[in-house]
Amino acid sequence: MNLHFVVMKEKLIARISRDGPLYFDDYMEACLYDPDDGFYSSGRIRPGEQADFLTSPEISPWFGVLVGGWATSEANGEVIDLVEVGAGSGALFKELDEVAGEAGIGLVGVEVSESARRKLRKDYPDSTIVATLGEVRESARAVVIANELLDNLPAALARKTRDGWAELVVSSEGTVLVLEEVAARSTVAAWCDAMFPNIGPGGVVTAQLAVERWIETVLRMFGTVSLCIIDYAATAEELSARNISSLVRSYREQQTDLDWLSTPGENDITVDVNIDGVLNVCARLGASVVVKSQRAFLLDLGADELVADQRDMEYLHASGGRVMEQLMARSERIAIEALLEEDGLGGFTVFIISRGV
Ligand SMILES: C[S@@+](CC[C@H](N)C(=O)[O-])C[C@H]1O[C@@H](n2cnc3c(N)ncnc32)[C@H](O)[C@@H]1O
Repeated sequence: MNLHFVVMKEKLIARISRDGPLYFDDYMEACLYDPDDGFYSSGRIRPGEQADFLTSPEISPWFGVLVGGWATSEANGEVIDLVEVGAGSGALFKELDEVAGEAGIGLVGVEVSESARRKLRKDYPDSTIVATLGEVRESARAVVIANELLDNLPAALARKTRDGWAELVVSSEGTVLVLEEVAARSTVAAWCDAMFPNIGPGGVVTAQLAVERWIETVLRMFGTVSLCIIDYAATAEELSARNISSLVRSYREQQTDLDWLSTPGENDITVDVNIDGVLNVCARLGASVVVKSQRAFLLDLGADELVADQRDMEYLHASGGRVMEQLMARSERIAIEALLEEDGLGGFTVFIISRGV
């Protein structure tokens, strides 16, 4: 049995009794990235084949081929650094590595999890793998990709009250972690006021200051930058109508709504990216942004031709009586189609952000 969450819970309870309740973003940070017992840090590489969820590049390698094609077209023959942030198991990095090798582009992987970093360094000895954006060299021109990263950046949880905003914090009662309310930090209250001016008392929201800080860091690091963010996302209006269990989600099965409180470090904790938050920071920094669904993005890059090619292969192999090859072409086609499904991965949001390009 995996006991990381028991140790993690003891650590959190000790921290709460020493320093007081944890703001939700601090709790999320600890649960996901505690160096020893966090979900992404405790020696396990997430996601992955035995993982609780699979990302697009893990469903089909064609995702990486298409996104890599986007990256080289953005580079347009210039010398660039291609950077993937949150490279995880390396499923997307593998395809980017191929594309970068062919185009003579330097590839950098940024990954906070030490175990994932170790694997990436072993698999891609010629690429640069670092732990934080701060270690990436600042350069004149970069293309940066982040697939399913921003939903994992720590968010605060706030509730509108008659007098302003309160924050939901994690406290302890004996050996149990519980949610409590305290007065909101001024930065969180100001962010929520600007983002949700019309929400009524009782409404709960996520405050995604870390997402804005992350985008700002990327945009300030490079002279010109093309940034592709792919994630599940919703507008501020959609998010303001949700309850806490659909605002903060966990990707393990058979969970009750707030099980991320009972097994800390054992669950992924994710939030839908606030589309308006991304648009605001881009407007503030003078970056242009195009928003589309993953389906539309991949179709623009030629995903429909890939589906047609695999279907042709299926027929070709079927007519030649090559059953194994026919089945392989079929499963490749089904995997590409899964990337395009409007109710699934195809419904993810893609932000193409550029500055100075
Ligand atoms: C859901 S996984 C996605 C992995 C990969 N991009 C994919 O599509 O398969 C998120 C990854 O981002 C990493 N991560 C989270 N915050 C990070 C940060 N601030 N900088 C770099 N990596 C981060 C996590 O450790 C994890 O490996």
